[in-house]
Amino acid sequence: MTILITGGAGYIGSHTCVELLNNGETIIVVDNFSNSKPEALNRVQQITGKTFRIYDADLLDKKQLREIFLENEDIDAVIHFAGLKAVGESVAVPLSYYRNNINGTLVLCEVMQEFTVKNLVFSSSATVYGATDQVPITENSPLGSTNPYGRTKVMIEQILGDIAFADPDWSIASLRYFNPVGAHESGLIGEDPHGIPNNLMPFISQVAVGKREELHIFGREYNTRDGTGVRDYIHVVDLAKGHLKALEKVTAMKGMDAYNLGTGKGLSVLEMVMAFENAANKTIPFRFTEPRPGDVAVCYADPSKAGSQLGWQAERGPEAMCKDTWRWQRNNPSGYDRKTLTVYKEKTPRHEPVEFFNS
Ligand code: NAD
Ligand code: UFG
Repeated sequence: MTILITGGAGYIGSHTCVELLNNGETIIVVDNFSNSKPEALNRVQQITGKTFRIYDADLLDKKQLREIFLENEDIDAVIHFAGLKAVGESVAVPLSYYRNNINGTLVLCEVMQEFTVKNLVFSSSATVYGATDQVPITENSPLGSTNPYGRTKVMIEQILGDIAFADPDWSIASLRYFNPVGAHESGLIGEDPHGIPNNLMPFISQVAVGKREELHIFGREYNTRDGTGVRDYIHVVDLAKGHLKALEKVTAMKGMDAYNLGTGKGLSVLEMVMAFENAANKTIPFRFTEPRPGDVAVCYADPSKAGSQLGWQAERGPEAMCKDTWRWQRNNPSGYDRKTLTVYKEKTPRHEPVEFFNS
């Protein structure tokens, strides 16, 4: 199959590219590198020994996206990762989030419709369940979100549902990720956040590598085993493999459905710190601070629908999550280095790649 991947240079996208290439698929990556580096795709090629077409393009640019579809007539399906994802930032600049995530998806779907490509796997999030305290969370839990980022995911799911309802040729899987962590076992690709990490795992690993002094644990009086927040951490390689299963599903069925991708097991912040300390053989200094506004005490998935309907389940536990994160962080203390990569630009003839410099 030929799969177009939006946001393929990002954290989850790059790991999914590896799994798709290893599975013998042809991939085409579209990314504007607003939150990623071309070097990630270089590394994907290094891991797999395979090359693929890369477009430095913005989903909001419909003309450019149409040209990509014109140049690549054989696209069977799209995996749509591209989007902005920082909860706090979305509260500060909601318009950017609505424009990028909603309009980007609308433009993508319009172009897909025009070129009769109607198989789509969408990156949704457990954030669509809002601040529910009912765990484990099934796909039937009520939707609603507490911030603009989450609302873009809820709205996009509704839009996709309407598209699939209006035209029964569409086939769409919305994958609701829980907490993606970890890295490819090669240590070549991983999460490379800009600035101060918002999420627990990259923060812990930056403390371990000496980039940050100490972890702040947000809250110690939650109603949990040890008082700290509990989440369903899922290894990014397991998550990536879930996309291959979802692709099988969308190419075999019609309509739209949503699936939780999580392990079904909750781990507390302190348990993750301990798992990381064991994996890295390092002490992680931490101190307790106030709870983070908007955080829930406990969130974990009921992943049984993905098990029964996609034939997918997570295989990697906290040890692999932490070991792989640490290997990536230790080998790449500053994330992806500044490197060059061959990227196709708009209107560039397909056999004459231009050199792209990451700034
Ligand atoms: P990421 O930021 O690493 O990857 C997203 C990629 O999309 C980046 O490479 C970015 O440059 C690109 N992009 C953004 N807007 C674009 C546009 N308009 N045109 C072209 N490219 C664009 O994020 P990620 O962690 O890999 O997440 C991938 C998807 O999964 C996102 O939609 C995110 O909301 C969703 N998700 C992520 C998490 C998580 O914790 N990482 C959890 C749940 C859902
Ligand atoms: N935490 C800390 N210190 C930190 C960072 C996090 O104690 O420096 C705690 C949080 O309070 C929470 C847990 O670690 O209890 C996990 O926090 P993350 O920020 O890593 O993840 P969240 O569950 O808050 O949110 C993430 C993504 C959301 C997504 C959600 C579900 O950031 O976008 O998972 O997929 F919606």
